[in-house]
Order: sequence, then C-alpha cells, then structure tokens
Amino acid sequence: MSLYSRHVFPHLLDWLMSQPAFTLAREELLAEVAGDVLEIGFGTGLNIDHYPDSVISLTTVDVNPGVHQLAKKRLEKARMPVKFALISGENLPMPDASFDAVVSTWTLCSIPDVESALLEIRRVLKPEGRFYFVEHGLSPDSGTARWQHRLTPVQKIIADGCHLNRDHLTLIANAGMTVIEKKQFLAQGLPAVGAFMTLGVATR
Ligand SMILES: C[S@@+](CC[C@H](N)C(=O)[O-])C[C@H]1O[C@@H](n2cnc3c(N)ncnc32)[C@H](O)[C@@H]1O
Repeated sequence: MSLYSRHVFPHLLDWLMSQPAFTLAREELLAEVAGDVLEIGFGTGLNIDHYPDSVISLTTVDVNPGVHQLAKKRLEKARMPVKFALISGENLPMPDASFDAVVSTWTLCSIPDVESALLEIRRVLKPEGRFYFVEHGLSPDSGTARWQHRLTPVQKIIADGCHLNRDHLTLIANAGMTVIEKKQFLAQGLPAVGAFMTLGVATR
C-alpha cells in the first residue's frame, strides 16, 4: 500500500464522505438494519452513528490501516459490540450464513475483484439475510457515462481504486442476489460523474 493511500487518502475520504449528500443516504439506508451485521469497507466509521438499536453486533472489514486509525475515535462511541478485521472483502474468513445483514456504503466501487466480494457477501448472509447497499455508479445518461469511462483510470489513482463506471445492480444480480428494494437518484452537490446513486436492499 502506498504512503498516499495509507496517510493522505484517509483524511480526504473522511472529509468527502462526511458531506451532507452522503449523510442523508446513510440515514435512509441504515434505519431498518437489524441483528448481527457485517460492514464491508468500514472506512473512517461514518456509519456508526446511524445504526439503530436493533443492531446486536457489528463486524467490520477494511483493507486500509490508515482509515481504521481514523475510525477508532468513532468506535469508542459505538452502542453495540464492534469487531474490526484488516482483511479484504473478496476473501472473508467468516463461516457461511453468519450474518443477518451485510452493509456496503460506497465500497463496491473500490473493491478490485468486486464479483468475488459479492459472492462472499451472499455466502455469509443467513438464508433470510439482507444486503443493504448504497453506491455511486454508471449513469443512465450516455454523455455522463462516457465521461465516467474516460475518468475512471484517473479516479482510481486519486481515490484509491474507486471506479466511477460500475453497474452495481447488474453486479449484484450476477452474484445471485435479488434486489427487493431500490431507489436511484442524483445526489446534490456532487460532480455529475459521481452523483448517480443506487440505494437498495437485496436478498440472497
Ligand atoms: C469510498 S470508501 C467508503 C468508506 C465507507 N464505507 C463510507 O461509507 O464512508 C471505500 C472503502 O472501501 C475500502 N476497501 C477497498 N478495497 C477493499 C476490499 N478489497 N475489501 C474491503 N474494503 C475495501 C477502502 O479502504 C475504503 O475504506
């Protein structure tokens, strides 16, 4: 991992992901989450205040020790027990059917082998479990999509692997999950290439 990824990017990430457009979506997505929860790509811990009391335990994974340093101060205020592991979402050590819910907020864009990570998410969900996600992704507007394809190589460098042009609903369906709720919208205050959001819930 580069010095930029470990020491500079975490501070940029914390600032960007604290913006109101993201906070509103976190509140909406996480309101109904319950039980034993796994969060993939915990980042700097900005979801922690939005988990309802129905969450019994939280297990979090991320690959960047720099972001976890910033998450630590937020974890001190957590209302539920939290376990953190510095591991990749593509290869989870948890047994099959371990979690009532898996959460990903703007993480599928950054995982290199997102197809494998989605298969892992499906594997660790209990049969009645739910996958809660909100992601920025490929715009239905062809002009914006063209720029997303052009800018993704640069975005991957400055935003630590983030792709602007992933079609998350297709990726989730290809992993064998069924989207049961979805909402797509343009987030206010973000550049067009990063503003098209998909928020939803899928079952395994
Ligand atoms: C854009 S940030 C979002 C952070 C956080 N989910 C949020 O909502 O603020 C993407 C996160 O995914 C993490 N990440 C990237 N690749 C990963 C992987 N293979 N497995 C787990 N996390 C990963 C990054 O380190 C980063 O913390």
